[in-house]
Amino acid sequence: MLIRRAPDITSSEITDEKLYLNRRSFLIGAAALALVPSEPVAAAPPAGQPLPAKRNPAFALEDPPTKLESVTTYNNFYEFGVNKEDPARLAHTLRPRPWTVEVGGHVARPKTYDIDELLRLFPLEERVYRLRCVEGWSMVIPWIGFPLAALIKRVEPTSQAKFVEFTTLLDPEQFPGQRKSLFNFSGLEWPYVEGLRLDEALHPLALLTVGLYGQVLPNQNGAPVRVVVPWKYGFKSAKSIVRIRFVSDRPRTAWEKAQPSEYGFYSNVNPAVDHPRWSQATERRIGEFRRRPTLPFNGYADQVAPLYTGMDLKKYY
Ligand code: MTE
Repeated sequence: MLIRRAPDITSSEITDEKLYLNRRSFLIGAAALALVPSEPVAAAPPAGQPLPAKRNPAFALEDPPTKLESVTTYNNFYEFGVNKEDPARLAHTLRPRPWTVEVGGHVARPKTYDIDELLRLFPLEERVYRLRCVEGWSMVIPWIGFPLAALIKRVEPTSQAKFVEFTTLLDPEQFPGQRKSLFNFSGLEWPYVEGLRLDEALHPLALLTVGLYGQVLPNQNGAPVRVVVPWKYGFKSAKSIVRIRFVSDRPRTAWEKAQPSEYGFYSNVNPAVDHPRWSQATERRIGEFRRRPTLPFNGYADQVAPLYTGMDLKKYY
């Protein structure tokens, strides 16, 4: 099965702003007591526990954040199954500790990082991003993480590094969706692989993400670490990654392998280029009923359009 358009969901989806603001004031207090802005946090506690991080005002949005309950119960994470509710129901089988991320390929300083070392090395910040799924829905999520560029600079890519490949954990014991079963047919080859051009990966918007809504990242959202690339369709934001590899050739991504005519390597949000089976001109924000126009590059055009100067975005979809 391939990505389908989502049926509109009807569950109570009013923005849970009050809960969020309460949590924020708690966190701001905690941060004032316990953190100076550049001081990395200690080892992360389990999912759902508070994860203090200063909000970066450069990445604030007017749009109210999507209700936390929707963010954690309406998910695409095919390693747990193809239905939106599968990840929340089954995600307890994923063990986000101990966890390592192997960073290698064309770099001067390859290294396998323990997840807690990453958390110590890079100061966390909160950024509110829009996430636009290729299926036609979107959310607004306060993520916690650090710029992917910070890690990339640390490992020093060589001149041969042109692309960055992200690989999700392969373990059918922890991911029931990776077991071969007729009831489970996603059409994807495991492990899930995604990729970016090196200059895209170095863009300040690209975030390595370890939390959301002031909490440690829930398993169903890609614990313990995932990528978030807000100007691209959501599937470019690979979850639960164990490997980041710098390569010379464009990686073949999981969705590209499954259906190349539908899912291209770039997958920039683009209302002018329809998916072969549906329009991408509008989207439904989870929690709302109306459809709103989809913005080029998901509203981040002023920041990222220069990455694609001179490229035919219909050809490089
Ligand atoms: N990463 C992995 N490993 N497996 C997946 O199935 N789904 C993608 C992306 N990352 C997916 C993945 C898709 S289609 C979307 S829309 C986003 O994760 C959803 O992220 P969220 O559940 O945190 O909203």
